[in-house]
Amino acid sequence: MNSLRILVTGGTGFIGSHTCVELINEGHEVIILDNLCNSKPEVCDSIKKITGRDLTFYKGDLLNISSIESIFDEHDIDCVIHFAGLKAVGESVEKPIEYYHNNITGTLNLCEVMKKHNCKKIIFSSSATVYGDPEIIPITEDCKKGVCTNPYGWTKSMIEQILTDLHTSDEDWSVILLRYFNPLGAHESGLIGDNPNGIPNNLLPYVMKVALGQLPKLGVFGDDYDTPDGTGVRDYIHVVDLAKGHVKALDKLMSDSDVNIYNLGTGIGYSVLDVIKAFEKANDVHIPYEIKPRRAGDISTCYADSSKATAELGWKAEYDLEKMCKDSWNFAKKCY
Ligand code: WQD
Repeated sequence: MNSLRILVTGGTGFIGSHTCVELINEGHEVIILDNLCNSKPEVCDSIKKITGRDLTFYKGDLLNISSIESIFDEHDIDCVIHFAGLKAVGESVEKPIEYYHNNITGTLNLCEVMKKHNCKKIIFSSSATVYGDPEIIPITEDCKKGVCTNPYGWTKSMIEQILTDLHTSDEDWSVILLRYFNPLGAHESGLIGDNPNGIPNNLLPYVMKVALGQLPKLGVFGDDYDTPDGTGVRDYIHVVDLAKGHVKALDKLMSDSDVNIYNLGTGIGYSVLDVIKAFEKANDVHIPYEIKPRRAGDISTCYADSSKATAELGWKAEYDLEKMCKDSWNFAKKCY
């Protein structure tokens, strides 16, 4: 594939930064727009160090439409990969107005500027959360979208609808919706990874703070689900596998003008206790935990059937849970 000039919104974030590495490794030119609300500018230096190549970074916010305009005025953008958005499930329940405004209005601003500059190719960072409590397991893309359990999930679902309606209004739009399952891991260099501010919402960052002695013990949210050991089952996927899925999607994005949806998961479901045991074994650490009540909004089981991405994009997850645990720990020991 020829080199593309790609605008990556949210490109200094966890999944965005790993995707920028893979895009640059493939010879594409990367331009990042990020407001740094949940990441650090040093991530750009890490991406350059890993790839040995340069990138262009703009600190800016999608809610400020002129910051988007100036990028499109300055660069002839071939396509956009859209990660930027608030993503803490629990926080979204407390601050719905902030989440809907930031994620939805930001996306509408982005699409308005793209349209004005005749750039009508976008990959959107969506989530398995749009399935709600899934009707079928493993989940295929044909599974009906469900009732989301939080405003964060609803913004993902609504933005999927916005982009679908955009294509319906103008079939020149090429839209790819990538529905991620549970991203874990970090680049093997240990230079980039998932380093959330404050008390982590997600399982593995919390486990790693316990392993580092920064938190006393892990709370396991419920052991009375209808799963093999009673704890929640999820499809954990290495963030580098996820990043490579975006590179594989570019061919389809640039050659098609349609709305294409793909689940990016491993097809394997692991319980919370499975993850704890895998992390302890991979890194020779002990993770004290206690069973706590279920967390509001959690579902029992969620894992993917990603055969469509394999068939149409030539993509398949390669890394296993042990590597996810090892790479995560390698990053956390350096950066937490
Ligand atoms: C995983 C499992 C918890 C923390 C969410 C979003 C999804 C994506 C990933 C952003 C569940 C259990 C967790 C803890 C626990 N978001 N758990 N103790 O909720 O599956 O998915 O994050 O990109 O869109 O919906 O991920 O890591 O929070 O939870 O027992 O301290 O671990 O109950 O079973 P989740 P998670």
